[in-house]
Amino acid sequence: MNDIISGSWQEYLQSPRFDWVRRRTYLALDVPTWTQAQDLVELFGDAVRGYKVGLELFCGDGPMALRELHRRGKRVFLDIKLHDIPHTVAGAIRSVCVPGVEMVNVHTAGGREMLLAAREAVDILKEPPLLIGVTVLTSINENLWHELGFTSLSETVSVMARLSADCGLDGVVAAAIDVPRIRTVTPAHFITVVPGIRPLGSAKHDQARSLTPGEALHLGADRLVLGRAVTLVADKKKALAGIWDEMNGVLQAQGDVNLSVQNPTPEGPRRGDAV
Ligand code: C5P
Repeated sequence: MNDIISGSWQEYLQSPRFDWVRRRTYLALDVPTWTQAQDLVELFGDAVRGYKVGLELFCGDGPMALRELHRRGKRVFLDIKLHDIPHTVAGAIRSVCVPGVEMVNVHTAGGREMLLAAREAVDILKEPPLLIGVTVLTSINENLWHELGFTSLSETVSVMARLSADCGLDGVVAAAIDVPRIRTVTPAHFITVVPGIRPLGSAKHDQARSLTPGEALHLGADRLVLGRAVTLVADKKKALAGIWDEMNGVLQAQGDVNLSVQNPTPEGPRRGDAV
């Protein structure tokens, strides 16, 4: 573990509680070049489960960034939200899922045939990443949703989550507020990946359905995506430590019952628990 925080945090960094918290976080490398991304990776090292490579970095220095992250032994959530005809999505999956990518996503709105094609393409890879469906973006609120001609946002999220599970996907990306509803229509091993995380008082930017890290965990989110709430503030390490603190509080409030896979939640171990 790198020396991300000194002093009293050192003991925490060695504890199973910290490991539990760390395994649930990805840091978004939302910068255009590998040089800029590298600064973040050097700063945070293994303090997060892995790094999220999204469209900005992927369209800039994508292949180099994926190679370099793998060379450094970092896990990658490749957040490129594929959405095209089934044949094209399957081909894109074969092209982008290089070693080190542990999770990749597609837009659930691409429909059943596209999701099945994505599943098939992932399954024939040597090291298949988790395949995750994007439900409704966290930047979309009810008004923007209705403007698109749709009716209930929350009902659509449920339908998309159920369809994803039906097509064999491993989980969905969703707003934290939607997690409890998703849990009622998907199997226990189905994971929820939650972006739009904002500690109290931090800027929302373009996120419309954000919640705090503690609220997200409390609602049952398996993995959190941390972005500008950490990367855009002056003291980035302090920002991450504040988030750990809040996540840790939820774990403690639950009596540490979820601390290890050997001692799982009543529904059994979830994929989110995997190291
Ligand atoms: O900076 P912020 O915390 O808003 O970053 C959120 C990250 O998660 C961005 O990289 C964004 O592309 C991604 N994301 C999202 N909403 C989704 C899926 C991914 O915000 N539904």
